[in-house]
Amino acid sequence: MAMIVCVCKAISDKHIRVAVEKGAVSFGQIVQELGVGTCCGACVPHAQEAVAATVCAYTAASASLSV
Ligand code: FES
Repeated sequence: MAMIVCVCKAISDKHIRVAVEKGAVSFGQIVQELGVGTCCGACVPHAQEAVAATVCAYTAASASLSV
């Protein structure tokens, strides 16, 4: 079940995960691609944490696959 990260733009953790899988590695890139945090801005701290956790998890998973 997806969890909404940005209510204004209807962005979920699943959207963030897909963007990371497509190559996004920073919050700025996620903002450019998805528009998260660009309306009221209330979600920015949580969205930054969600992006960092997703990038970290994806990087760790990728590293374990390449060994
Ligand atoms: S909740 Fe994300 S910009 Fe408003």
